[in-house]
Amino acid sequence: MSSSFNSKLPNLATSIFTEMSIMANQYQAINLSQGFPEFDTPKFLKDGINNAISAGKNQYSPSNGLPDLLTQVANMIHRQYQTHLTDDQKLDGLDNVTITSGATEALWVAIQTLVRPNDEVIIFDPAYDSYEPAIRLAGGICRHVTLEAPSYSINWTHVEQTINKNTRAIIINSPHNPTGSILAASDLSALQDLVEKYNLYVISDEVYEHITFDGLRHESVLRYPHLFKRAFVVSSFGKTFHCTGWKMGYCAAPKELSAEFRKIHQYVTFCTFTPAQIAIAQMLKEQPSHITALASFYQKKRDVLIKALQDSRFTLLPSKGTYFLLLDYSAISELNDREFCQWLTKEVGVATIPLSPFYPAEQLEAYHQKNKVIRLCFAKNDDTLLKAAAILCQL
Ligand SMILES: Cc1ncc(COP(=O)(O)O)c(C=O)c1O
Repeated sequence: MSSSFNSKLPNLATSIFTEMSIMANQYQAINLSQGFPEFDTPKFLKDGINNAISAGKNQYSPSNGLPDLLTQVANMIHRQYQTHLTDDQKLDGLDNVTITSGATEALWVAIQTLVRPNDEVIIFDPAYDSYEPAIRLAGGICRHVTLEAPSYSINWTHVEQTINKNTRAIIINSPHNPTGSILAASDLSALQDLVEKYNLYVISDEVYEHITFDGLRHESVLRYPHLFKRAFVVSSFGKTFHCTGWKMGYCAAPKELSAEFRKIHQYVTFCTFTPAQIAIAQMLKEQPSHITALASFYQKKRDVLIKALQDSRFTLLPSKGTYFLLLDYSAISELNDREFCQWLTKEVGVATIPLSPFYPAEQLEAYHQKNKVIRLCFAKNDDTLLKAAAILCQL
């Protein structure tokens, strides 16, 4: 039966993450597809949330977030990114930070705050899947710039050629999902030049901010006060504290932009889960080593997987951050990446994610002709990684 409902997002299907996770369950495959940790949330944090609930901290928090959490987030940002700044350049928790229901809400609200009908927003492909629907629902238009494989770096000349009088914002994501690439200081400097020259805004998706490898530093927008003047920086406690199901995140922005952001946030969720805010504030205050140890924790996992796949016929691409590793399977199969992932889940017993759904539908045909790449999530126990790799080595 054809529907008479006039959809606002007519071409949007179930996300590839949902599709592959359903398949993984159906075929009992080892699930390296969806990006969530297999290990548990730290005990300190679980105790914190349980204690907060038992102590009756179960009502609304202030819309922007509990002041204690806002201050702890600001302290963490000062330690990580702002030791070189003067006090008046440093971010202020109460003015600049808003606690959101995951990075997803922060991205959504930042996009609704910025984007007006017919504004253009530049995003980089492969792109995280929530950007484009949010831009379209705000009445905006996505302009796609392709990252240059296999390094998945940004060609800033190409970005400048894409800018026109309607361009409102650029969304960056570093460390980058799905490719594991990261931006360098020179990228942030090129971005700042364009932002200043064309009066643009930036949304910086930094949900994997604490996961960079081999001593490479995360180039947060929060390090660069001039760039931050026109930016919304988004992050996720779910990624940092292995609690993706809590859907806790935040947005840091200059005072004026935060005020606009907060107007919308109050009518999206009003506030987030109070007990989680209390527990995360305590965690940030009392267990700062969790964050400083995160990069080496995930680097070991990356290296376990890389070593175990060394003798496979896959070509391994560099993973400089996040908990994702890309594999090129050109030597193994002629199938396109979606079919290959379906086959891998069903017949081989390992679920992964194809890269093509991170590109616009109209580019798929051309994409498939040149690219055979899948994404593995290594936020898993070593046993799981070794089992999956042993299977993949047989192909
Ligand atoms: C790049 C990127 N941005 C945003 C999100 C959403 O984060 P959250 O679960 O905190 O909403 C994710 C989650 O996978 C992500 O990978």
